[in-house]
Amino acid sequence: MSAHLSAAPPPSVRVRAPGKVNLALRVGPVGNDGYHPLATIFQAVSLFEEVTATHSMPGSGISLTVSGPQADAVPTDETNLAWRAAALLAERTGLPADVGLHITKGVPVAGGMAGGSADAAAALLACDTLWDAGLPRQELVELAAELGADVPFSLLGHTAVGTGRGDLLTPAMTRGEFHWCFGTQREGLSTPSVFRRFDELAGPSTPDVAPAADDTELMHALRAGDAVALGKALHNDLEAPALDLRPELAAVLEVATDSGALGVVVSGSGPTVAALGRSRQHALALGAAWTAADVVDAVWCATGPAPGTQLITSISR
Ligand code: C5P
Repeated sequence: MSAHLSAAPPPSVRVRAPGKVNLALRVGPVGNDGYHPLATIFQAVSLFEEVTATHSMPGSGISLTVSGPQADAVPTDETNLAWRAAALLAERTGLPADVGLHITKGVPVAGGMAGGSADAAAALLACDTLWDAGLPRQELVELAAELGADVPFSLLGHTAVGTGRGDLLTPAMTRGEFHWCFGTQREGLSTPSVFRRFDELAGPSTPDVAPAADDTELMHALRAGDAVALGKALHNDLEAPALDLRPELAAVLEVATDSGALGVVVSGSGPTVAALGRSRQHALALGAAWTAADVVDAVWCATGPAPGTQLITSISR
């Protein structure tokens, strides 16, 4: 064999997982466990996190690197949700937690689009494949729910109704593609503080959360592929607390509305604002309007629904 040939690369697995927007998000009174019951409709969008899991020497433990937009804002230690996903999978399967993880960010950081949850979902599938653990899908979903309320949806993708903490999912029927533009801010908003402000604003009289089935018009719009009706039905109970914590967001909503967006809503716990366009071109124009008005730090155009967590490549020795 030629001396020039280098050794084969170590086995590695590359997985991608989508970010999401909440088309409707209804929040009930905080429970004793510190969580709020939710009735939500998630849509996965074509902004993806990629996680590569590479074989590492026995005993080397977990290591993590991050690249892509806003990578410097992401922790690379055991507080990272992808790291925790690998550690949890190892613990539950009894396999050694030896893996090199690399995250390529494609979802805005701390923006209410569940980028960290997508990392956890992708790391679960990547390590399950690399370690040949072969956990049934349902067990991966259960581990996902332990890692965070939005992690199971990132595994599932497409469009789904979420109840409980948002982790009990029922797939929703949709037709066609919806064209989104997302306006993001350099400085994120912490999800717990937005929920806390929700409690403060709502006072002790928060009504019980309405079942997502109450979002009948929204579900009809999805089934009909009717973007105009979907735009009118977008709703987020966390929008008021997010605006209260970040009053500048009002201008982001206003610019998109004035530019003819079919609907505008704060995404999840914010501060990302989602605007629904009539077409791909119109979504791009909404982003251009935000940039011209200087009310966002970045714009990201995407379509929904997008598939859930998927294996992209698997290289074995
Ligand atoms: O589940 P996850 O770690 O993503 O949630 C982060 C925080 O957001 C929780 O600790 C809780 O304070 C808040 N949260 C909530 N109700 C939910 C989901 C999250 O109060 N349904």
